[in-house]
Amino acid sequence: MYRRTLRPLLFRLDPEALHRLTIAAARQFGRTPIAHPLLRTWHPPTDTRLQQTLWGLSFAHPLGLAAGFDKNAEAIAAWPHLGFAFAEVGTITARAQTGNPQPRLFRLPADGAVLNRMGFNNRGAAAVARQLEAESVRQHLSIPLGINLGKSKIIPLEEAADDYAFSFEQLYAFGDYFVVNVSSPNTPGLRQLQAKGALRDILMPLQARNRDRKPILVKIAPDLNEADIDDLLTLVEPCQIAGIIATNTTLSRDRLTTQRLAATGKSPQDESGGISGKPLRSRSTEVIARVWQQTAGCIPIIGVGGIDSAEAAWEKITAGASLLQIYTGLVYEGPALIEAIVTGLSAKLAASGYDNIHEAIGSQHG
Ligand code: FNR
Repeated sequence: MYRRTLRPLLFRLDPEALHRLTIAAARQFGRTPIAHPLLRTWHPPTDTRLQQTLWGLSFAHPLGLAAGFDKNAEAIAAWPHLGFAFAEVGTITARAQTGNPQPRLFRLPADGAVLNRMGFNNRGAAAVARQLEAESVRQHLSIPLGINLGKSKIIPLEEAADDYAFSFEQLYAFGDYFVVNVSSPNTPGLRQLQAKGALRDILMPLQARNRDRKPILVKIAPDLNEADIDDLLTLVEPCQIAGIIATNTTLSRDRLTTQRLAATGKSPQDESGGISGKPLRSRSTEVIARVWQQTAGCIPIIGVGGIDSAEAAWEKITAGASLLQIYTGLVYEGPALIEAIVTGLSAKLAASGYDNIHEAIGSQHG
């Protein structure tokens, strides 16, 4: 129904305008109890074999909403009703930012991909904290909430640690887990913070402020090579990294067939930004497998990148992901994708003979 009827209509709208509408609608639905049964149309059935407890948090199944969709935590009340087992808001920066000039969000339907160079547009940590404080939805949220933090554009890389620490302090009370995002391609120099020394300098002050020992994860780029990944992973113990989110969007244009973007008439090769969706799927799975092998499966991995079906989700679980996130799949498949993935995972478990999701995680490594 979404693909055939709704999507062609919605895709007539400018991608960013459609996104704003989606967030506004989700916010309204989430705050209107009478609408909740409607959202629950897409709600997956409960399957105890898919449940996990990670970092002391309970996840009804592995699938959550990826960062970047609800940047300002405006629609958190809606996400459990749509069937997500957790949601990650942000990226939030210490300073409010308008992001890059528009257009900065492009659909590549022939590739099942999105190109974005949003540039961390968000209201800033203090404003988001005030909003979460003022609204009672946070206290009553039935799913774990992750908060993804980034560096403010105007802050030099050498001062990144204080910038992250400010946001962490402001938002500390509201997150069940936190993510240090050092992998967006759309803030100049940000990815250099994936280097061991720079990342340690960000993580240590956060851990010093982490009074309740909340999980702090690191989100990494698919464009790191294997040696860079291994190097970063040496920080897991000393910096108490609770998990890795693999991956952010890619700079690679290798798998694209799209010749021209409708909005600019230019080739995706000539447009800056990160690619998400189908072309990212296999590289992100490779990164998950690498992290799983290097850490001997000892820290949870959140797998994200090109998940648009139960097959794609299963591939990431067996490569080593404990949890999964989606963004671009939602754009192309609509909210029914959530239920399709979760029920599909139940079927995959049954077919593989595993008793529960734990047994499937990393199972391709033998
Ligand atoms: C993103 N993503 C992202 N990630 C992040 O950590 N902070 C952010 O602010 C954003 N913003 C953002 C905007 C848009 C328009 C897209 C499409 C993506 C990356 C996202 O969370 C995810 O890592 C990738 O998109 C790969 O997953 P999918 O989209 O292939 O399921």
